Amino acid sequence: MVKICCIGAGYVGGPTMAVIALKCPSVEVTVVDISISRINAWNSDQLPIYEPGLEDVVKQCRGKNLFFRTNVEKHVYEADIIFVSVNTPTKTRGLGAGKAADLTYWESAARMIADVAKSDKIVVEKSTVPVKTAEAIEKILAHNSKGICFQILSNPEFLAEGTAIQDLLNPDRVLIGGRETPNGQKAVKALKDVYAQWVPLERIITTNLWSSELSKLAANAFLAQRISSVNAMSALCEATGADVQEVSYAVGKDSRIGPKFLNASVGFGGSCFQKDILNLIYICECNGLKEVACYWKQVIKLNDYQKSRFVNRVVSSMFNTVSGKKIAVLGFAFKKNTGDTRETPAIHVCKGLLGDKASLSIYDPQVTEDQIQRDLWKNKFDWDHPIHLQPASPTSIKHVSVAGDPYQAAKDAHGLCILTDWDEFKKLDYEKIYKSMQKPAFVFDGRNVVDVARLREIGFILYSIGKPL
Ligand code: NAD
Ligand code: UGA
Repeated sequence: MVKICCIGAGYVGGPTMAVIALKCPSVEVTVVDISISRINAWNSDQLPIYEPGLEDVVKQCRGKNLFFRTNVEKHVYEADIIFVSVNTPTKTRGLGAGKAADLTYWESAARMIADVAKSDKIVVEKSTVPVKTAEAIEKILAHNSKGICFQILSNPEFLAEGTAIQDLLNPDRVLIGGRETPNGQKAVKALKDVYAQWVPLERIITTNLWSSELSKLAANAFLAQRISSVNAMSALCEATGADVQEVSYAVGKDSRIGPKFLNASVGFGGSCFQKDILNLIYICECNGLKEVACYWKQVIKLNDYQKSRFVNRVVSSMFNTVSGKKIAVLGFAFKKNTGDTRETPAIHVCKGLLGDKASLSIYDPQVTEDQIQRDLWKNKFDWDHPIHLQPASPTSIKHVSVAGDPYQAAKDAHGLCILTDWDEFKKLDYEKIYKSMQKPAFVFDGRNVVDVARLREIGFILYSIGKPL
């Protein structure tokens, strides 16, 4: 029986390993983490992350060939293949602060593998890392090898939150990069054999290590670039009377462009797009490619502009001040079908409105009050570091309350901002909401989920992204 151990039981490690366990009954999969509370949650009925379909898969395999454990060393020692899926946040201090990837967690995992291994191992980079990380990891492992053969593979993950299980069951591609040596190719084949149990062979791409590492950063940069492009168009639409949804539809009909990822929004969020592009920018700068770095920097600048533009729109529409006004915020997660709030545009918008002294009443179906309070307190980049390294937060921030449902959030509000594309926001009783709000009642739809004509008919003053006012 092949034994797999995955270091890091997060948004990637948990779902990815659950699907491997489901599809490969002959493989024993153990997911380990330094966070005891996270492992306890994986072993409970209340999984640590919300992801449609995940609970089903975990329940089918847990205790059979899928285990969540805290004794990291033991399982690393026993494993044939070790996935490393730890967080790789943006550095907050020192060389490259604010851009470069912080590989502290990765390096400590690699050193621990070198310490405890007593037999040959395949070590798989699952985390998103800078190009050439495998070389650094190889050095750490080789210099501590005691004659053991370590093969490093790059196998970046392309799942998106909210659709992780579908993405894992039916991936567009699986990418495996390895050394072009006989041992390197043997390791590539061993990992390929795992995926081949459910992924068609033509979708398993093998490359050299550096192509694989860079392809992950490139894919995220391309995806984010599409959103910044359509968001740039949304500003122009507002200035000219064009409708960004009509423009996206017309543009996306070109088969060379395609229809996906062209939804204008209040800005992209999530733990990876910004972090990975900053990482790409840093690599370009380190290689003397200033123009290339500038090109990618603009994707992030445009995203920041889009978030700020939204805040400015709210304040300027409401007679240039929101001081003392109640603003209902519907949606706090960075996208629908997840409770994840890392780098959510809602943080930027809420902080902007609080800066103008608004009172916020926030509702999200999957985000807890505690999480919202912590997010609004934390500094940029603090979120992706272990809890003990983060500044302590107060139990509640002044002028922020969390509502149990959208109607409670909207009651007596002067304005309502929709910041996540949850399906339930499409179906709300907006007539009831209108009646309960102060007049004139404003709606700022940061996700273009509401029916513009209908809401205007009810009496709302409505602003949608990239649509005529
Ligand atoms: P996460 O923060 O949810 O999970 C990482 C886990 O690693 C944490 O639970 C942490 O406690 C654990 N950890 C850190 N150091 C450890 C160590 N030395 N030993 C044991 N456990 C340790 O992060 P994530 O969202 O799962 O992302 C992990 C990596 O995958 C990142 O590089 C990210 O860029 C990449 N990625 C994420 C996604 C996504 O959708 N979240 C998708 C593709 C790729
Ligand atoms: C993204 C990529 O889609 C995954 O392939 C990748 O594996 C992952 O990053 C990662 O490396 O972490 P994720 O961030 O989970 O996945 O979610 P996306 O669906 O990409 O959405 C990212 C953000 O862009 C969200 O805030 C979403 O609302 C926004 N978005 C997305 C738009 O504003 N418009 C769109 O058309 C699409």
